[in-house]
Amino acid sequence: MTSRDAYAKSLTYIKGYYLSEVISSLLRSSVLYQFTTPRPPRDVAASLALDPEVLTAILRFLATENIVVFKGNNVRLTQYGRTLLTHRGWYDLLIGGYSPTLQKVSTIMARGKKASIRNETFVALGSGAIDEYDVVPLITSMLRKRRICPKIVVDLGCGSGSCLVGICRKLPTVRAIGVVGSRKLARLSSAVVRSAGMSGRITIATSNVADYSKRGAPDLFLCAFVLQELVYQRGRDGLVTFLQRLARTYPKSWLFVVEVPAPDPRADSSPATLGPYYSCYFLVHSLTRQQLLTTKQWDDVFRRSGYTIVDKGLTGHQFDPSASEVGYLLRPQSQKQPALSSLKAR
Ligand SMILES: C[S@@+](CC[C@H](N)C(=O)[O-])C[C@H]1O[C@@H](n2cnc3c(N)ncnc32)[C@H](O)[C@@H]1O
Repeated sequence: MTSRDAYAKSLTYIKGYYLSEVISSLLRSSVLYQFTTPRPPRDVAASLALDPEVLTAILRFLATENIVVFKGNNVRLTQYGRTLLTHRGWYDLLIGGYSPTLQKVSTIMARGKKASIRNETFVALGSGAIDEYDVVPLITSMLRKRRICPKIVVDLGCGSGSCLVGICRKLPTVRAIGVVGSRKLARLSSAVVRSAGMSGRITIATSNVADYSKRGAPDLFLCAFVLQELVYQRGRDGLVTFLQRLARTYPKSWLFVVEVPAPDPRADSSPATLGPYYSCYFLVHSLTRQQLLTTKQWDDVFRRSGYTIVDKGLTGHQFDPSASEVGYLLRPQSQKQPALSSLKAR
């Protein structure tokens, strides 16, 4: 590479950082949505109580990437710019959720993961928005394949509640409880459920996932990208203890887990093979209080916890071309036969 190319590459990184922060802010504040039809920036600024000069400068910056075009007094999103609206979940998760973490890389390096912070609201919103493309199709197709029709689903660590909304839309007989760890997330997920018109079918409960002990067994527990957090909070043995208790207390309930297993340290996991999403994903998980396990370690955790892996599935959709996410359908080992009520064909 020539020194001129290397310099150009550095500037591409720097501009990419500016762009991702700006796009993420404009998605969060709904500003970008205002330009699906041509509008004068001054009008948009007035309607959203924004500074018109600053908004115009930001739009001019986005025009350098063909995200918006200026025509006369108007600005509109280009065809490419419109595609950013569908990527909102990725901006919310990786930028809104984890840019506070990235800004503390030096401190985290010096003081360890305990110094890490993230924006919980945007982690939940982003993860929930992405679920529509991966977790919801994965769980519904794996349940259909086995002709399992859960009536009651409990989502442990439901984040924004969007995943349950998606599941309830696809499986119209499901009623659900979403469990969140904080009042703030409970308010957020209740609002998401309400605005989806699902308050009659989904209720939100506030509890640490590890302490969940409601009476009445659900047909299915869902843990999407949550057990990785319990590994850091409780250690691998603590996670096994939690799952053992879950299997003992609810011997007839299925457990559906979605995780991104860590690359096997002995295998070739050079950054080039990871792709842009997973290279960022593995980095932020190494910087925060989460602990990704390898496929072998997950198999071992489930076996020690008293669960049998009935099926494994991969999302393999356009946003997960490396098929790195794994869905595990698990059943307590004491459950010889699946509950008959949960085996009715759809
Ligand atoms: C990556 S998000 C996934 C959220 C959701 N399951 C989804 O698929 O969108 C992980 C969530 O687990 C929650 N969480 C982590 N540890 C928890 C605990 N011990 N009790 C309750 N929630 C927890 C976090 O607050 C966060 O919202």
